Amino acid sequence: MPVGIFDSGLGGLTVLDTVSQKMPTQSLIYFGDNANAPYGVREPADIYKLTTIGLEKLWDEGCDLVILACNTASAAALRSIQENFLPEGKRCLGVFVPLIEALTERHWGDNSAPKEVSIKKVALFATPATVSSRAFQRELAFRAIGVDVEAQACGGVVDAIEEGDFLLAESLVRSHVAALIRKMPSPEAAVLGCTHYPILETIFKETLGPSVKVVSQAALVAESLMDYLDRHPNMRGTGIVSKFLTTGDPRKVSDRATQFLKRKIDFEHC
Ligand code: DGL
Repeated sequence: MPVGIFDSGLGGLTVLDTVSQKMPTQSLIYFGDNANAPYGVREPADIYKLTTIGLEKLWDEGCDLVILACNTASAAALRSIQENFLPEGKRCLGVFVPLIEALTERHWGDNSAPKEVSIKKVALFATPATVSSRAFQRELAFRAIGVDVEAQACGGVVDAIEEGDFLLAESLVRSHVAALIRKMPSPEAAVLGCTHYPILETIFKETLGPSVKVVSQAALVAESLMDYLDRHPNMRGTGIVSKFLTTGDPRKVSDRATQFLKRKIDFEHC
């Protein structure tokens, strides 16, 4: 049984890459809704609808467990999906909780009362929809007290990455980091709260400087998935066959994916 990995486009490949390095025998089916990316400028109802269509495609491919490797879908749609949409036997996990558990020094699934943590000032870089959902702050408040979060909506970055325009993406990242630093001059940690952004992690790190700890979401999601599969072995399949599906132009998407992952990736249209 393959595990499904969903994103609006290419960003979830940063999660898929880490998952496949840590779990080389786990079969994975990637779904990129490239025809409808970016999600980050859409309304929550629209994001919910598109995400549920993608989930149904992954269920048709035999995935019982799907990782929403998209912060925007996790922020805008995951809660309603878990409450209203999942049929018996299907599971859908987002990418926020592992990140926040790590930031707040918790083990997976520790639901004890919020407590003081060592990191007090956090910069959040995310899409406009993720920032306006305040889902990150809400999840954080369940686990930690006294953490100041300054969020920067990074308009345009996902579009530029999807189009392969890295000069534009880099200059947008530099200006979004500068805008954040004007609001919070010395963050202790920075969260790249969009799975596309690790593609530009070196630019974020360079612009933020060495004193800011940049939190890697892909590694945390991969570790929490391993933990989940250890606890739910019925969701773990065998075989190493992975498949890449896109609603966009498979040739264009395959070329970009091959460029990002530095290995040959072939997308099929779905
Ligand atoms: N990778 C998605 C995320 O993590 C990008 C969202 C978008 O399509 O704008 O938020």
